Amino acid sequence: MTTSVRVTASAPPHRRPAVGTTTLAARAAYVLRRNDLGTMTAAAPRLYPHMWSWDAAFISVGIAQLSVERAITELETLLAAQWSTGMLPHIVFSPQSTGYFPGPDRWGCAQLAGAAPGAPETSGICQPPVHAIALQRIVETARRGSAQDRSLADDFVDRAWAPLMNWHRWLAEQRDPRGTGRLTVHHGWESGMDNSPRWDAPYRGVVVGQELPPYRRRDTEFVADASHRPSDREYDRYLWLIEEMRQAGYDDARVRETSSFAVQDVLMSAIFALACDALADLGDERRGRRDDIRELRVWAERFRSGVAASLDPLTGLARDRDLRTGQWLGTQTLAGFAPILCGGLGQADERRMLALFDSDQWCGHPGLLAAVPPSASPAHPGFRPREYWRGPQWPVISWLFSWAFARRGWADRGACLREESLRLVADGTFAEYYDPFTGQPLGSLNQSWTAAVTLDWLC
Ligand code: SER
Repeated sequence: MTTSVRVTASAPPHRRPAVGTTTLAARAAYVLRRNDLGTMTAAAPRLYPHMWSWDAAFISVGIAQLSVERAITELETLLAAQWSTGMLPHIVFSPQSTGYFPGPDRWGCAQLAGAAPGAPETSGICQPPVHAIALQRIVETARRGSAQDRSLADDFVDRAWAPLMNWHRWLAEQRDPRGTGRLTVHHGWESGMDNSPRWDAPYRGVVVGQELPPYRRRDTEFVADASHRPSDREYDRYLWLIEEMRQAGYDDARVRETSSFAVQDVLMSAIFALACDALADLGDERRGRRDDIRELRVWAERFRSGVAASLDPLTGLARDRDLRTGQWLGTQTLAGFAPILCGGLGQADERRMLALFDSDQWCGHPGLLAAVPPSASPAHPGFRPREYWRGPQWPVISWLFSWAFARRGWADRGACLREESLRLVADGTFAEYYDPFTGQPLGSLNQSWTAAVTLDWLC
């Protein structure tokens, strides 16, 4: 990476001074222990008191630095909530926790969806498939540990194999039935990037029905400033999409037909390509998985190509696609860099994309405290430095980029992102997201996945 490292002489306002790496690691471990509910880790202590699917994967990567056995338990809890279709639900509700909305009653999956497990209770949508990536990382961590850790991890790969294959097959078949190489999401929450500008145009087409049952938001009660969260208008649409899915009985084919929101998500597709390769790599190390591995490699290639084919020749960024209007969605968000995660571009396009990533429109913007990708371009008029996925930096996303860069053989780029991310999280608050200019911690503090990736970076 060509961006230079900036040194801040003192902590900007709203930001605690940096702590040393030993203290930072100890605090990260403490956050993970304090958020531990037994067999799952709350995504955040108050705002998210249950298990979230992609959070759980990143969290397990961090926990593995403390206990490989407990990391495995985390993923096992998620896999135990898998639907009979293969879908991994985006929330697994803890019976011990209350206070989150929409909770199990609002989703109604156990009552309405034949494929949902009776227990534990879950939501009815999915999230990005980062689980095989996490599994591969846990195996790497275990290999540096004791013989017992190695054998626990190896046994777990065998146990997790079939559920992960079923999850990947469900994605490839139900979320890309036409073989485009891009996965469709039916809710912005499925992307994990709830209010990203990526979804503004598709959400404009979601007309909230009169029959939307009344509700009271809880998320805004737990953050310092409600304006850092999605607006009420956005939230109505989020709830309406759930209502539509309830009416479709959470049946995959009916949801594909009836949901007012159907968008091919280019970042989720790139993650899927990476995850298919990660799982296939784990399979290569074992006997008797030949057919599965072949299928995984075919999916990886199909999605790499689908992601590359979304490139906008004008901006040099990859694009989502709204299936309801047929429009490509050329927004200036970090999802546009999906192809540099999974590969698949020609050399010239890839060089151009890397130059853009480093440029003053992105990581090289002179105002940034740390040179890591903001969720939207700081050079774009729609940039909102404190508004959730409309600008802030998310350490977990930097972890994904640094992991993928290292995997692609770009060790320097991976190391640089790690260093810069550590600058961001050095205040020890483990915030959900950060203001890219001031480094102000935003959203929930003591967010498990922020602590987890920090621990992985430091160990
Ligand atoms: N991120 C969403 C929330 O705010 C849904 O998972 O709850």
